[in-house]
Amino acid sequence: MTATTSTEIDFALRPAASPLPAEERERLLADPGFGQVFTDHMVTIRWSEDRGWHGGRLEAYGPFTLDPATAVFHYAQEVFEGLKAYRQASGPIVAFRPQANAARFNRSAVRMAMPELPEAAFVRAIDLLVTQDREWVPFEEGHSLYLRPFMIATNRGLGVNKPSPTYLFTLIASPAASYFGGGLRPVSVWLSREYTRAAPGGTGAAKTGGNYAAAFAAQLQALAGGCDQVVWLDAVEHRWVEEMGGMNLFFVYGSGSGARVMTPALTGTLLPGITRDSLLTLAPELGIPASEGRISVDEWRAGCESGEITEVFACGTAAVVTPVGTIRGSSGSWTVGDGTPGPVTMRLREELVGIQYGHLADQHGWIHKII
Ligand code: PLP
Ligand code: COI
Repeated sequence: MTATTSTEIDFALRPAASPLPAEERERLLADPGFGQVFTDHMVTIRWSEDRGWHGGRLEAYGPFTLDPATAVFHYAQEVFEGLKAYRQASGPIVAFRPQANAARFNRSAVRMAMPELPEAAFVRAIDLLVTQDREWVPFEEGHSLYLRPFMIATNRGLGVNKPSPTYLFTLIASPAASYFGGGLRPVSVWLSREYTRAAPGGTGAAKTGGNYAAAFAAQLQALAGGCDQVVWLDAVEHRWVEEMGGMNLFFVYGSGSGARVMTPALTGTLLPGITRDSLLTLAPELGIPASEGRISVDEWRAGCESGEITEVFACGTAAVVTPVGTIRGSSGSWTVGDGTPGPVTMRLREELVGIQYGHLADQHGWIHKII
């Protein structure tokens, strides 16, 4: 066993005694799907009131043993992140804006009354795991290694008079193809008017498990209505478009040299997506003005019918940039443009993916080289 230091946290390196044989790994990498296959290792770090962060480890991927009375099982005190490692064309393995994920992880932690993890330790955990499991980073362009850092409350006890005094941070990794099966196809979305995802003062801006648990009932309605994803509206008027279950939304107005993009502003109930932020930076550099604003469901429909809105797309780490083709809801349905991927959507996707896979220069310092 060797040890390595990141700021004040030591990581003990305990590689798996029997990692998966290469042929088996190659078989899994050929068709990884999304979030189904996991690598040989994980990183864990513990936190307690008296010791702070301690006991960092790189160890074999495997199950936890937790007492049935552990706080996270009952009160969902949990936060997570999602980012990807890419194998670039010229050889290096990189992560995209991991410091931004570290910062958001800590904002989520503060909202959920959990301890913040030093950003250097968050990034160090990624470097250690991806370096150890580098053979798991797919070679196929469009595939990547999805990284899932998360933190859970580990106190044993059922009281809710104060947050847990102990926590466990874990990082796992999963080779991934596209989030929506069937390659790059426009997705259909379901407008949820019955349920809401996040209310002012709630946890919508935090990446915490409960937001996703509360979304499944609406997701079932979306699936029953023949749609891929839910579009969430604001909780007060059920009128303003916010985001989707795991991605932000962009609207394209006009076309050709007159095209511009708009994404719903961060009102406190949306997740501040890192892909969203990246596209708000990249679009103007490509001559496409970009703004944050608001759009109602009625304006969305009228804009598509009049031709003012020419494209709509979803964006996120898992979804990358995915065109939205059809919108359905209890009060009818409509199509964006001709329902096929539009040129602004595809141009922005190409730019983002080009930077991530190293085909285009990284002019913003977004690429973090791991190995
Ligand atoms: N909105 C929600 C609810 C999400 O879960 C995600 C995924 O992380 C996003 C938006 C997009 O965020 P990012 O671009 O940082 O992946
Ligand atoms: C991501 O894009 O990283 C997400 O977290 C989306 C989803 C799988 C929850």
